[in-house]
Amino acid sequence: MKFAVGADHAGVELKNQLGEVLRARGIEFVDFGADGSGSVDYPDKAAQVARALAAGEADRGLLVCGTGVGMAMSANRFAGVRAVNPTDSFTARMSRAHNDANVLALGARVLGAGQATELLEVFLDTPFDGDRHTARVAKIDSGADPATAGSP
Ligand code: RB5
Repeated sequence: MKFAVGADHAGVELKNQLGEVLRARGIEFVDFGADGSGSVDYPDKAAQVARALAAGEADRGLLVCGTGVGMAMSANRFAGVRAVNPTDSFTARMSRAHNDANVLALGARVLGAGQATELLEVFLDTPFDGDRHTARVAKIDSGADPATAGSP
């Protein structure tokens, strides 16, 4: 598993802390910044991480901004990205098990470092259940209106 990681100015510190969690677990990652030197627009970082997934340079993403909301909204505009913005472990776990989420977007102004680490660990440790969820995730990825597209 390889991660692409990014943050805006609000998320730099937490992004760096979570990078240490990845490093401690031996998980390779590419860090797109920010580096803390100034204001950064979160859609720009979300786009860098989404492009890394699309290019096959990473298979998971970690994005951090103030709330995680803008990062998730931005990343989810890209084909193949399924970003989740959890604040609780159940949501983080189900986003992997049922939705095969591939990008974790967290809020540095919402979560403490301990909570964020727990969410990242749940995200890392929960496999996709597959089975009946596979066709539903395919409907997400198709980008089509299920009312007119039929079943995949
Ligand atoms: C930056 O002030 C803030 O808007 C951003 O980090 C994020 O919370 C947006 O969703």
